[in-house]
Amino acid sequence: MKKKIAVLPGDGIGLEVVKAATTVLDKTAELFGHQFEYQYGDIGGHSIDKHNDPLPQETIDTCLKSDGVLLGAVGGPKWDNLPGGIRPEQGLLGIRKALQLFANLRPVTGHESLTEASTLKKEVVDGVDLVIVRELTGGLYFGEPKERREIDGEEGAVDSLIYKKSEIERIVRQAFEMAKVRRKKLTSVDKANVLETSRLWRETVEEMKQDYPEVEVEHMLVDNASMQLIRDPKQFDVMVTENTFGDILSDAASMLTGSLGMLPSASIGSEAPGLYEPVHGSAPDIEGQGKANPLAAIASAAMMLKYSFHMHEEADAIDTAISEVLNAGYRTGDIAQNNDNILSTEEMTTKVVEAIKK
Ligand code: NAI
Ligand code: MG
Repeated sequence: MKKKIAVLPGDGIGLEVVKAATTVLDKTAELFGHQFEYQYGDIGGHSIDKHNDPLPQETIDTCLKSDGVLLGAVGGPKWDNLPGGIRPEQGLLGIRKALQLFANLRPVTGHESLTEASTLKKEVVDGVDLVIVRELTGGLYFGEPKERREIDGEEGAVDSLIYKKSEIERIVRQAFEMAKVRRKKLTSVDKANVLETSRLWRETVEEMKQDYPEVEVEHMLVDNASMQLIRDPKQFDVMVTENTFGDILSDAASMLTGSLGMLPSASIGSEAPGLYEPVHGSAPDIEGQGKANPLAAIASAAMMLKYSFHMHEEADAIDTAISEVLNAGYRTGDIAQNNDNILSTEEMTTKVVEAIKK
């Protein structure tokens, strides 16, 4: 198969980890007989330097014409206080909006050999394998009115939590589809004891489960869910939730396995190509030193193969290679227990490339 991939390396270690991801994609293409064609675009701080714009129209067009978008990270101290309030992060929000990405998927996988990197007990995190599906374009962050106003004669502020049924349906469907091809368990997280939007959410899930008889459905209140994620994360397969709850739960879940350098993410819309990026930022403290862990970006590329290109075998080949490399004891600095034999970004990438098999 021939696929066009828009590559937006961004800033800092974004450039280094995206390079690693395309190297792994090249090897995968070669093994499985595909052709991946990369089209590079500017985003973030570098783009401000070059175009005085964190997201030039040309970049948006490149993404819209692609089959999938691979993003590194944006930002850094150099662009923190620019005149006119222009910021690298505007590029990130802009591209998510331009592609109408309504679902954010964050898998959390507890690699057995890495459990020592977690702050939780080994038996709690060893074998964790869950995905949080977060609604990304509705809810409290976007609802109107959103404003400062006088309330009862004093200063006040209002945010609005709003969901349309169709917005709930499309994200819940995404989650059911994932659960169907995973361990067939869906946990819908809400606050239906106090929020009307949550009651609509719960009703919608109940209606839709008729279409997925093979998936076991449970509802959980968000306060309980946050506790259960830390107490016994292995009970979860797919968790689906609205924007605000998902923001908080996914950050909490991301720490189950230890390092930011290990965590991939995908954002998906209905028509436009999906966007795949590591959860971490541009890490200015280690930029240009070959210290960045490329595995989050590599695993993000694997998610692109799976969710945008439906290349499941290829994606599994990459994920298996990552596990093998970790089980063999190879480590970048962020996940190493001691300072012996720490691999550089490039060396780690080479290990993964060598481990990919058809
Ligand atoms: P960060 O994720 O860039 O770094 C946090 C810490 O984790 C640093 O010590 C860094 O060295 C380490 N780290 C991160 N990724 C790593 C990797 N792959 N391998 C090894 N170590 C890694 O977050 P921070 O420092 O808060 O933000 C730095 C810049 O990145 C800021 O300008 C921020 O706005 C931006 N940022 C961008 C994001 C994005 O593009 N999606 C997300 C988060 C932050
Ligand atoms: Mg967050």
